[in-house]
Amino acid sequence: MDKGGTGKTTTLAHLGVVFENELDYETVLIDLAGKQGDLAKHFGVWEQVEVAVANDDDWPNIATTFQEKWGQVARLQDESTGDPLADMILSLDEGPDLIPTSEELDGIDSMLNTVDDPGERYARLDAFLTEYVDERYDVILIDAAGSSSNITMNALRAAGHVVALSKPAPFDEGQARKLRTDLKSMVEQQTLETDLTMVMLNELDGNTIAGREFLQRFEAEFGPAMAPQQIPSTQDIINAQMRGTTLFELEDPLATAERAMDAYRANATELARRFETCDWMTETDSSTVESDISTEVN
Ligand SMILES: Nc1ncnc2c1ncn2[C@@H]1O[C@H](COP(=O)(O)OP(=O)(O)O)[C@@H](O)[C@H]1O
Ligand SMILES: [Mg+2]
Repeated sequence: MDKGGTGKTTTLAHLGVVFENELDYETVLIDLAGKQGDLAKHFGVWEQVEVAVANDDDWPNIATTFQEKWGQVARLQDESTGDPLADMILSLDEGPDLIPTSEELDGIDSMLNTVDDPGERYARLDAFLTEYVDERYDVILIDAAGSSSNITMNALRAAGHVVALSKPAPFDEGQARKLRTDLKSMVEQQTLETDLTMVMLNELDGNTIAGREFLQRFEAEFGPAMAPQQIPSTQDIINAQMRGTTLFELEDPLATAERAMDAYRANATELARRFETCDWMTETDSSTVESDISTEVN
């Protein structure tokens, strides 16, 4: 979504922990969302990343994999360490692995402008994942910025599925609709082979009239693509993020945090089902979606 702060990074972190720890998928999170290193901060490893940068010890990194010389770099790394990704992948205490972002991605974005063939310009990440990452993991979650940069196009190109996060706010519904239209036309022009696999509302207060109305409008607009559960707002997200963990590590979570964790569990489980079902859209029983709305409204 072309907007910051809808909850992309937070949601991706929580889904990643559910995929790895509860659903037993080998999971890696890839941060392409910008310099702030939000995912690394979320898991309390940002300082470690910064120390590596300060000591010039952060090479090769995710930006290196976009460069033409990557194949050569990978071969040399493989010869010296036995694993071309050894210095790039962090294994997190909470379970999943993380490939953190790099400041060099900005430069990569400009460099990609000089690649004339769009087929080639947007295919770098896909090539890297296919050759070096796919075989190690069951699930690869990519945190991509909302803007339509070359990096984001690479993420979309590499992805089989797109999950969109929206805040229940008047203009965000239009943004979600635009994302769906854009994806559709890119698929038609054969730039992409992906679909909008799930739309999730973040920080939805289902107890307010406005909250229920937003949910109804999203259900009407996105039907079976809607997540089975929406994520409530919880103060504990901030508490957990300040400690460098997800909600799942809190010893005495608030009731709102329990509801959020249940929603992450339900949505990760449904995502896994959709990943594995080619025509998940037609196999979803739309009558259950509708009856959910009426229960909410009543
Ligand atoms: N369910 C939630 N309840 C409360 N705060 C949340 C929730 N989800 C996200 N936040 C907060 O909203 C802010 C933006 O979330 P973030 O995941 O960084 O969004 P994005 O990656 O889309 O920019 C963060 O400060 C985060 O702590
Ligand atoms: Mg983010």
